[in-house]
Amino acid sequence: MMISKAMNTSLNRQIANEMNASHKYLAMAYCFEDMGLKIFARRFNQQADEERGHALKIARFIQDVGGSVVFEGLDKPKSDYKTAKQIVQAAVDSELTVTSQINDLVAQAEKERDYATRSFLQWFVDEQVEEVSSMTELLKLVTMAGEQYLFQLEGRLMAMMSAKSD
Ligand code: FEO
Repeated sequence: MMISKAMNTSLNRQIANEMNASHKYLAMAYCFEDMGLKIFARRFNQQADEERGHALKIARFIQDVGGSVVFEGLDKPKSDYKTAKQIVQAAVDSELTVTSQINDLVAQAEKERDYATRSFLQWFVDEQVEEVSSMTELLKLVTMAGEQYLFQLEGRLMAMMSAKSD
């Protein structure tokens, strides 16, 4: 095995963190759906898929370096948000939490002189910059629009989503 047992455990923990993030986004997507905000719901569904992808990317790496993948149970996500702004604020907070989890993993890899894991984690470091930035931008837009103008904001959100997938 190319990584330490401790690193294997930390990476498995991060798989659970990413799966929990995915689950959280899914719950948020359905809250948007309940509010009649279909495009917000689609954006958050898409984000849930991305988070699941992050978990699987870590699982793949663990396999590649000869470790063993262990899945944990999921936490129950919050699903009683009252406003769209509350949801987007929770998404920003969640991305900041994941950023600090990734930073902890990087610190561990550097401490262990585990350069394979350090190199692998760089993708996540960069991804977090993108995700914190795009959620923060969305929070600004939601705050600026106010709850009653969110339907108009959906058009803008759709454009942002298609620009991202280009
Ligand atoms: Fe995989 Fe948005 O953190």
